[in-house]
Amino acid sequence: MKQAGEKIAMLTSYDYSLARLVDGAGIDVILVGDSASNVMAGNETTVPITLDQMIYHAQCVVNGVDRALVVVDMPFGSYQGDSKTALDSAIRIMKESGGHAVKLEGGSEVCESVERIVNAGIPVMGHLGLTPQSIYKFGTYTVRAKEDAEAAKLMEDAKALEEAGCFSVVLEKIPAELAKQASESLNIPTIGIGAGADCDGQVLVLHDMLGITKDFSPRFLRRYAEIGDTVEAAVKRYVEDVRSVEFPNEEERY
Ligand code: KIV
Repeated sequence: MKQAGEKIAMLTSYDYSLARLVDGAGIDVILVGDSASNVMAGNETTVPITLDQMIYHAQCVVNGVDRALVVVDMPFGSYQGDSKTALDSAIRIMKESGGHAVKLEGGSEVCESVERIVNAGIPVMGHLGLTPQSIYKFGTYTVRAKEDAEAAKLMEDAKALEEAGCFSVVLEKIPAELAKQASESLNIPTIGIGAGADCDGQVLVLHDMLGITKDFSPRFLRRYAEIGDTVEAAVKRYVEDVRSVEFPNEEERY
């Protein structure tokens, strides 16, 4: 798609029912993101989600998908230790979930693991810029690589991930100009989130773009629906109808 100049549309999903809708609507790539830790489990960060939990979410998504590429996030702690641990985790994800590829965060420090996983036949997507699994190192979720030194490191890391065999790389919350440079200098596609329009594709967290999570509104987020409001209104009507015995009516019984 990059070679053909076609932009790549990616969204997260974590369960069968929404993955089915997302796939049916024509998405190119579904990411079973470790953002499941936030939007599904209500944790403050992505750090607590486990490999078993990620595999469960990925199994549910795979059951709902007929055509999209399913990429599964490797959770914190499942690959940082050493490349053998990383490979074992990636193999578990592929065997137990039926996903098509894995994603992991980091640059040169994860390249040995990327090579080992790719050599085992598993496609790997990289993730640079704001890498939420390192939130306790960064301290905040603000834009990354605004300074020259961090921008230069990001460019080196992107090249290193490509050389290690990544088939694509997510660029999260970095200046648009830097994302443009990275996208132009890499052969593999970049997928941006808060990284401007010059990336080869875009990704958003499904619950954010659907307006299910209402307390998260960074500048890069465009809300395509207000499902949270719709759910709230529907539940309120249901509660009223049950209390007033408006529901069920004559036709809604046996
Ligand atoms: O976990 C996730 O949802 C992600 C995207 C924000 C890229 O990694």
